[in-house]
Amino acid sequence: MKAFVSRAIPPAGLQVLDTATGLEIDYNSHDAGLSKADLIARTGQSEGLLCLLTDTIDAEVLASCPNLKVISNMAVGYNNIDVAEATRRGILVTNTPGVLTDTTADLTWALLLAVARRIGEGERLVRAGEWHGWGPLQLLGGEVNGKTLGIIGMGRIGQAVARRALGFNMKVIYHNRSGLDPALESELKATRVGLDELIAKSDFVSLHAPYTKETHHLINAEKLARMQPTSYLINTARGPLVDEAALVAALKNNRIAGAALDVYEEEPVLYPGLRELDNAVLAPHLGSATHQTRGEMSRLAATNLVMALSGKRPLHPVNPDVLEKK
Ligand code: DGY
Repeated sequence: MKAFVSRAIPPAGLQVLDTATGLEIDYNSHDAGLSKADLIARTGQSEGLLCLLTDTIDAEVLASCPNLKVISNMAVGYNNIDVAEATRRGILVTNTPGVLTDTTADLTWALLLAVARRIGEGERLVRAGEWHGWGPLQLLGGEVNGKTLGIIGMGRIGQAVARRALGFNMKVIYHNRSGLDPALESELKATRVGLDELIAKSDFVSLHAPYTKETHHLINAEKLARMQPTSYLINTARGPLVDEAALVAALKNNRIAGAALDVYEEEPVLYPGLRELDNAVLAPHLGSATHQTRGEMSRLAATNLVMALSGKRPLHPVNPDVLEKK
């Protein structure tokens, strides 16, 4: 069997692939995504593909790689893959949930605190040599302790974000298709509410929903208009959950107090005007970016690939229907 690894990944995953029996690996060892044509050419006749969220695996790619049996995405999100088309073709897709939960929750909190306490603005001031000493009116930000945190999407990462809010005595409200188990809800001191109520009542709105057709522009001009002017938006999930044009307008007009973003609609391109806004904290998609977590993601993605190619049920199938049909 042949498999292609589309971009440089941490060594832990490569070790798993190297020790797999009967697997021939082609590896793009450069830390840069391939063009669609190169991705197709390198995947070629392979049965397996280990890819990253920077690879768009659409119907054209799937049609051009006729032997593909398994696509292992080294990410928890898999909106870069046309899963419906993969399923139709009997191709199994896997992802890497669990191992990046706490790391992503930590980054969410780093951004929440940074935007509320104006850390980015302060750092720019100091680095520019324009800080002339402490001032009673200088860079006053928003209070975090005791405020209301609204979490949209209460899966693993949303829950980990809520758990951290306990240390800040926050009131946590959440919006999710299904409610949490009552014991967990009471442990997290979280209350399930409708989306409109969450938007209107939260001092901080944090997004943790998967990106799908249904969640496209979940936060749009109308939702932003209903947020409190003193509130903040944090997005560490997927860029297109937010209408970036509407967000830039809201931040320019101080419709909301600020936004902290780790993800963007057209990464790495930012919507015009976003970069210039002082009330936006902008991170370059760092949610899972620690040595330990990326190593675990790499190992898990490789393990999923090897298991699936050797006919075993992988640890995290995204479209298990494919397995059931076999
Ligand atoms: C994921 O796994 O979906 C993350 O966005 C990667 O950082």
